[in-house]
Amino acid sequence: MKTTTYLYMLNYQGHEQELCEFEQRYLFGTPQQTGVKYRLTTQEIDPATSPFFRYRLEVAFQAPTLAELVAAVEAAQIHYDEFKIHYLKAENEPLSYQERLQACRAVGFVVGGEANMHAPLVNLGLTYLEGEWYFGLVEHHDAKWQTRSQKPHSYSNSINNKVAKIAVNVACGTDTQLHLVDPCCGVGTVVIEALMHGVAIQGYEINPTVAQQAQENSQHFGLKNVIQAQDMHEVTTHYDVAIIDIPYGLYTPTTREEQLAILKTAKRIANRLVLLTSEDLDELIFEAGYQNIDTCLVRKTNVFTRRLSVCD
Ligand SMILES: C[S@@+](CC[C@H](N)C(=O)[O-])C[C@H]1O[C@@H](n2cnc3c(N)ncnc32)[C@H](O)[C@@H]1O
Repeated sequence: MKTTTYLYMLNYQGHEQELCEFEQRYLFGTPQQTGVKYRLTTQEIDPATSPFFRYRLEVAFQAPTLAELVAAVEAAQIHYDEFKIHYLKAENEPLSYQERLQACRAVGFVVGGEANMHAPLVNLGLTYLEGEWYFGLVEHHDAKWQTRSQKPHSYSNSINNKVAKIAVNVACGTDTQLHLVDPCCGVGTVVIEALMHGVAIQGYEINPTVAQQAQENSQHFGLKNVIQAQDMHEVTTHYDVAIIDIPYGLYTPTTREEQLAILKTAKRIANRLVLLTSEDLDELIFEAGYQNIDTCLVRKTNVFTRRLSVCD
C-alpha cells in the first residue's frame, strides 16, 4: 500500500517560535527542526488542530523540476471538476509572482476538468520548497477557533484560547483518545478547546459561581456539560493527563502550600501534568513528586506571560 506524504506549513511570529516548536514536538512525537517552518511526514493530522498550521498539502506528485512534475501529472490523467490551483508561498519564497503564476498555469493545463477560480469545489496546492516541487490536494487551516475568544464569561488574565488549544495538543500528542482533566478549570477555556477538538475532558472548579460561568460558556458553544463545581482534592477518578493553569494569587491569594497541594493532587489523579504557571515553580513541582520537567516560555510579543511545562 502506498503511504501518503503530507506537507504541513507552519506560521508563527518570531516570539512564538519556541512555543510552536514545543507544540509540534508533542503533536508529532518527534522534534521540529529549529527555525524550519514546515514538516514533511506520513502522519495525518487535521489541519485545524494546531494554531500554527497554515495548511496541509497531501502530496500526490513531487519532482525536482516543474517540467518533470507537469509530465507526471499529465501521465496520471487526473481529473477534477471545479478545481483551483493555489500556489503555496514558502517562508523565503524564491519564485517571483510571474513565475508562480506560470507554474500554476502549466500544471493546471494538464489537469483534466473545469477550473473554478472563484468558488472551487476542489483545492489543489502547488509549492516549490528547497529544490523540490510538490502538488496535491490542499486544506488550509480553519481559524474558526479564534472566534471562541468571544465567550460570555472570561477573566482578564485568563489564558487565551490559543494557549489553551496548544496545551491540549501538548497534552494529547499523537493520541487524541486520552482522557484529560482540568481540575482548576476556571471559566473553562481549556475544557472548551479540548471538547472542540473531540478530546474527552472533565473540568472541576472549586468556586461555584465560576463553575456556573464555565458551564454557561460551554453551553454557548453547544457543548455537553463536563464541568463540576468541586474541589479537585476530592476527585477520585484517574485521568491520563491533567492540564492546570495554576492559581497564582492575582485576584485571590494563593499560597505556596496551596500550589504544592494542587501539584500533589494532580500527581495522584493523572499520569502526566501539563502545567501553565506565571513563575518558575520547578522546585515545587519536584517537591510534589514529579521527576522530569520540560518547559517552554509562552510570550506575548516580547513580553513573557506564562511557562508551559510537561511534568512526568
Ligand atoms: C488561574 S485560574 C484558571 C483559569 C482558567 N484557565 C480559565 O481559563 O478560566 C485557577 C482556577 O482554579 C480554581 N481553583 C483553585 N483551587 C481549586 C481547587 N482546589 N479545586 C478546584 N478549583 C480550584 C480557582 O477558583 C480558579 O478559578
